[in-house]
Amino acid sequence: MSKTIIVSNRLPVKITEENGTLSFIPSEGGLATGLGSIYKEGNNIWLGWPGINIEDLAKQNEIREQLKAMNLIPIFLDEEEIKRYYEGFSNEVLWPIFHYLSTYANYDYQNWLSYVQVNQKFADAILSSLEPGDTVWVHDYQLLLVPGLVRLKQPEVSIAFFNHIPFPSQELFRLIPWRKELLLGMLGADLIGFHTFDDVRHFLSAATHLLSIHTDANRLRVENRIVLAEPFPMGMDSDKFSKLGANPEVIEHINSFRQNFEGKRIILSIDRLDYSKGIIQRLNAFELLLEKNSEYIEKIILYMIVVPSRDTVPQYKLLKDEIDRLVGNINARFRTFEWHPIAYFYHGYPIEIISALYNIADVCLVTPMRDGMNLVSKEYVASRNDNTGVLILSELAGASKELNDALLVNPNNISEIRKALITALNMPEEEMRERMKAMRNVVFKFNIKHWVKIFMNRLEDVKRIQRNSM
Ligand code: G6P
Repeated sequence: MSKTIIVSNRLPVKITEENGTLSFIPSEGGLATGLGSIYKEGNNIWLGWPGINIEDLAKQNEIREQLKAMNLIPIFLDEEEIKRYYEGFSNEVLWPIFHYLSTYANYDYQNWLSYVQVNQKFADAILSSLEPGDTVWVHDYQLLLVPGLVRLKQPEVSIAFFNHIPFPSQELFRLIPWRKELLLGMLGADLIGFHTFDDVRHFLSAATHLLSIHTDANRLRVENRIVLAEPFPMGMDSDKFSKLGANPEVIEHINSFRQNFEGKRIILSIDRLDYSKGIIQRLNAFELLLEKNSEYIEKIILYMIVVPSRDTVPQYKLLKDEIDRLVGNINARFRTFEWHPIAYFYHGYPIEIISALYNIADVCLVTPMRDGMNLVSKEYVASRNDNTGVLILSELAGASKELNDALLVNPNNISEIRKALITALNMPEEEMRERMKAMRNVVFKFNIKHWVKIFMNRLEDVKRIQRNSM
């Protein structure tokens, strides 16, 4: 029986080691949930880095055995690879360039070599599991070269690639010294998916300008093989978030939050620590609101969760310091004896707490400078079973293309964010419900299962188109 091989930088499991004992916690992430229906079935597998640095071979084998039972295959990275491939090239070149922050990019040739070598390592692992008729689905910017490397050895195999972050304008993309190699790597796939039509446009433009490849609408011809580039806006597990509202543990958290914040309106902000998320500008906008609209003093709270991420990369460390400083300043400037404006947490939290926060938040403030999709906005909407709550969303998040009943803002315009906050806090209930209902229709209809299904169907279409064009 043929199988699907899913490949991503991280496996959908978190491994921790305490006193020499390993524990395996399945990831709650959107991708893991969405692809759960695939990789857990039959002989399908998921390949990726287990997210922990283990040098000891016996221990590596122990992990390999335990993960096998979950259809997962680990690809171990050593310290140097984590530093150069993951932190150095993926997160100090591709991440900033793809999020339009070219000044943050650090082009280091040794890091590029490590990126090539680790992508080869992933490709080799795929090739050693690959059998005739199998399908390979590669995910995200850490593995742009993998489709090409697999194709080189197995010209007939069916390969799909999905880019989870924005694809930048070719004027940005061309700044990368190894731009051609990266494009050729992606073009090893038969189907290349992005969240939005703009990402597709940028990719096609990069391919035509930098490689002189022939394109006809969204079809590219790569050495006589047809490749399709298309938008597939990713959904999330809307049922799961909706049902969590009735979970006894969540209800308990909701009650205790309500007690703690009695009489206050809650503005919620949840992100990974990342400069692409617009956290500083969001804080500036909140400060402006308190400065200009003293009627909100003691009436509102910004509940801000920042989930630690990539804090070994210098720009992330700087951002963390900047957030700490700004939150400290705002709290010191506006707090009263009974109240402080920002409840700030630098932590990850279990889904039950996050769900409770989605349920109690009057406003969810999501203002990334750039975001491939942004699932927090969709999770908030899916959690609002009673159709109340207001979403303020950056027009530069992929999700804004679908959730156009949110209050859309330019994340650089702090005065516009302030005004949106005032509008949200004063929105008539009827309008709030109408907007929320419309957004809920979108997130429930185009959920993660739907996304996986249409993507996989399209891959079959491409293979058919390729056969007919021969
Ligand atoms: C983004 C990327 C993912 C990545 C995640 C967490 O959502 O698109 O590929 O896994 O961030 O980042 P990390 O560097 O911790 O894997």
